[in-house]
Amino acid sequence: MDSAVHRPVEATGPAIQRAGAILRAGSLVALPTETVYGLAADATRGEAVARIFAAKGRPRFNPLIVHVASLKEAAALGVFSETARRLAETFWPGPLTLVLPRRPDCGIADLASAGLDTLALRVPAHPVMSAVIVAAGRPLAAPSANPSGQVSPTRAEHVAQGLGHAVDMILDGGPCSVGVESTVLAVDDDRVTLLRPGGLSRERIEAVVGPLSEAGSLDGAPRSPGQLARHYAPRARLRLNADAPRPGEAFIGFGAHDRGTDGPLVRQLSETGDLLEAAANLFSTLRDLDDQGVEAIAVAPIPETGLGEAINDRLRRAALGRDEKSREEP
Ligand code: TXA
Ligand code: MG
Repeated sequence: MDSAVHRPVEATGPAIQRAGAILRAGSLVALPTETVYGLAADATRGEAVARIFAAKGRPRFNPLIVHVASLKEAAALGVFSETARRLAETFWPGPLTLVLPRRPDCGIADLASAGLDTLALRVPAHPVMSAVIVAAGRPLAAPSANPSGQVSPTRAEHVAQGLGHAVDMILDGGPCSVGVESTVLAVDDDRVTLLRPGGLSRERIEAVVGPLSEAGSLDGAPRSPGQLARHYAPRARLRLNADAPRPGEAFIGFGAHDRGTDGPLVRQLSETGDLLEAAANLFSTLRDLDDQGVEAIAVAPIPETGLGEAINDRLRRAALGRDEKSREEP
């Protein structure tokens, strides 16, 4: 990513091809969808996805929507129940996101789904977004293209104001027709839960699948829309800011902090102390050690700067005991 402030460029054929090449190179492109402008990266590359969080200044890793060009492509990434397929066939392309079980071999970076076993999938209806997905030849992870905490942009000009310095290209495809984010549904076999209200109304969804399950009443606790994603939590106990493992502990190093530490249960988030690389490796490293059946993991200190804030947030949540975990904000 260079440091120039990028102005929107008209989404012509050549500009769309250039966007595809930028995405394949692991960089960021802001572009229109029918709902809001998105900040896109190659969903199969962890470091590209990490750049999204760095650009938005998000203090947390939340799971992102993976955009594809067709139901066929989506079905290669997630497992569609009959109900999920009916929803997709009825409303795609369009402002609907389906949260489905993730196929183990889907190739999507763990960071895109924040380490979860589910994947949020959407086939957007905007011709520019569709053309860029095809030009890139990759599924694209894309949250709204605004700095964390600001409203979602519906014009290229808004994107330039908020993120012009942080993206490699802004494609201008005019104002977004829907203007609010996609509706997010979790589909668990034939049970459909509304996770986030959005551009596709409940009435239209219920006309196809019947009454929706109420997410807020699942455990009796009301929750705010858009905040319903569960968090990946490792089974192993975590000890943070550790200089070295104690007997019986696995170790996750960062930068200089694995010197003198070696062994089958020692992992590195980033040898060179690169926070983008560390973010990209975070969830797969925790999973990997969980799969080895380790009971305790010591983690080297990670600086609280840039993406370090989100990495530490995730590690601190993972380090909470079971009781705290169930009380934890989702
Ligand atoms: O209209 C939209 O949906 C826009 C455009 C760019 O497509 N994208 C967007 O993405 O709003 P984002 O990342 O801001 O919102 C993703 C939503 C969040 O509410 C997130 O919690 C939920 O989807 N989500 C993603 N993956 C999930 C998962 N595996 N389980 C539950 N919720 C998930
Ligand atoms: Mg957003």
